[in-house]
Amino acid sequence: MKNFSTIATQYIYVLFFLHYCCCTMFVLVLVQAADPSSSEAPMHKAEQQALYSAVQAFVGSWWNGSDLYPDPCGWTPIQGVYCDLYNDFWYVSVINIGPLYDNSLRCTANIVEFSHHLFKLKHLKVLSFFSCFLSPSQNPITISTSNWEKLANSLESLEFRSNPGLIGTVPNTFGYLRNLQSLVLLENGLGGNLPEEIGTLVNLRRLVLAGNQFSGKIPESFGGLSKLLILDASRNKLSGSLPLTFGSLTSLLKLDLSNNMLEGKLPREIGRLKNLTLLDLGSNKISGGLAQSLEELVSVKEMVISNNPIGGGLKSIEWQNLQSLEILDLSNTCLTGNIHKSMAEMKRLRFLGLNSNNLSGRVSPRLAALPCIGALYLYGNNFTGELEFSESFYRRMGRRFGAWNNPKLCYRAEGNSTGHVPYGVKSCKQETTINISGNVLSNAKLSEANWDHSIQFVASLGFSSCNLDGVLWVIIVQGMLFILLL
Ligand SMILES: *[C@@H]1O[C@H](CO)[C@@H](O)[C@H](O)[C@H]1NC(C)=O
Ligand SMILES: *[C@@H]1O[C@H](CO)[C@@H](O)[C@H](O)[C@H]1NC(C)=O
Ligand SMILES: *[C@@H]1O[C@H](CO)[C@@H](O)[C@H](O)[C@H]1NC(C)=O
Ligand SMILES: *[C@@H]1O[C@H](CO)[C@@H](O)[C@H](O)[C@H]1NC(C)=O
Ligand SMILES: *[C@@H]1O[C@H](CO)[C@@H](O)[C@H](O)[C@H]1NC(C)=O
Ligand SMILES: *[C@@H]1O[C@H](CO)[C@@H](O)[C@H](O)[C@H]1NC(C)=O
Repeated sequence: MKNFSTIATQYIYVLFFLHYCCCTMFVLVLVQAADPSSSEAPMHKAEQQALYSAVQAFVGSWWNGSDLYPDPCGWTPIQGVYCDLYNDFWYVSVINIGPLYDNSLRCTANIVEFSHHLFKLKHLKVLSFFSCFLSPSQNPITISTSNWEKLANSLESLEFRSNPGLIGTVPNTFGYLRNLQSLVLLENGLGGNLPEEIGTLVNLRRLVLAGNQFSGKIPESFGGLSKLLILDASRNKLSGSLPLTFGSLTSLLKLDLSNNMLEGKLPREIGRLKNLTLLDLGSNKISGGLAQSLEELVSVKEMVISNNPIGGGLKSIEWQNLQSLEILDLSNTCLTGNIHKSMAEMKRLRFLGLNSNNLSGRVSPRLAALPCIGALYLYGNNFTGELEFSESFYRRMGRRFGAWNNPKLCYRAEGNSTGHVPYGVKSCKQETTINISGNVLSNAKLSEANWDHSIQFVASLGFSSCNLDGVLWVIIVQGMLFILLL
């Protein structure tokens, strides 16, 4: 025992000694580096000058790099700028411009043009502009169309984010950037057609084009991006149909094309995206029914197709194949027919939105047996018969079980009601007792419960492209009766 403790003590001494040595060396190194007279940072003057000029062009002429940051890759680093050594010389590898942190480089409101000095930085890997070009009316800036070939060998990540003053089109010269792995053009003022050339950037892992004004078709060439993991072109004005070539994007994990004007049918090829976990095609004009190949998306966790005039029924798909599915939103998609019983086999399902369609038939109580279900929306359909869910289900779900606005649906009250009933649905019992005094009263009762949701439903019809006039009429009549009875 004694032996052990002495050994341990010695060991600690050794550690202490090593630590001390290291610190001394570290301090020596620091002293050496901090003494500008003893060692000039090994950086070519041209590279240093290009960095100063490039940054100055965006942050303003007051910014004097050589004054403020005489050794930008050494002991006076510039916020957001990082360097790497190549052949024992410093080169700039990262430039982030924009207010990411308190002391970040911010852009001036008077940027004259997209500076060409950037293109002299031979080893630039990462270039990003965040909240830099702000005014589309007073100072609109377009992305330089020339010189990108100079960054062809180095640039891996290019990002423009939250720049409303960045307008014009995406230059097709981005096609030179063959080493690009991430291209993010998020929430800018860009527009026009997407250049075909982006489809030649075969090393892209991430392509984000969301929140601009891009229009026209999605180029077929995008199908060549076989390493792509994330494709987000949501919130633009893209039209035309989904390219059939998308079936080649087999690495894809996330595909978000929501809030565009895409039309036509869902291509069968979409079933080839076996690794896809997110598919969001919501708020477009896609029609032609649910493609059967959707059932082949075995990894998909979240599928949102809401607000499209898809039409057709739910029967075309073997829903039980989608064992990873957690969120399924098919609301406002002009669906008809019954809820297919295989929908109750999706064991991971947490959210099921079937509201605002023209679904009919009975609602299977097996949906309540889905082990994870936390929200089930069936409102605004044409379901009939009795709801046979338990009171404990209604209690657990509250308003997250929505079955209102199904005029022929009622719930079966249990003998000893604890007051947990589906919101906005009439009791089957109530209807038969009220039957004596006639239909008007029973309608009035119903509309009272439904009133606020009727408004919500009418609002949701605002972007419906299918004909639900009949339903709307029923609601208006109910609403008027309600007002009359007041
Ligand atoms: C920055 O300051 C130095 C010396 O103070 C001066 O020589 C140089 O011209 C200035 N550069 C710019 C771009 O204003
Ligand atoms: C899909 O994911 C698996 C597991 O992460 C991976 O091994 C496979 O290479 C991926 N497939 C494609 C086409 O990227
Ligand atoms: C209702 O509950 C009471 C006690 O609370 C009980 O006596 C009665 O049998 C119950 N009736 C039904 C139909 O369950
Ligand atoms: C309900 O009223 C209708 C006529 O409005 C009548 O034909 C029907 O038999 C009534 N049903 C019940 C259960 O009283
Ligand atoms: C709803 O579907 C039924 C057939 O199930 C059809 O008769 C009816 O016209 C449809 N209503 C609307 C508004 O599309
Ligand atoms: C509801 O379904 C019935 C058939 O069950 C159909 O006659 C009726 O048109 C449908 N109502 C609406 C509003 O679609």
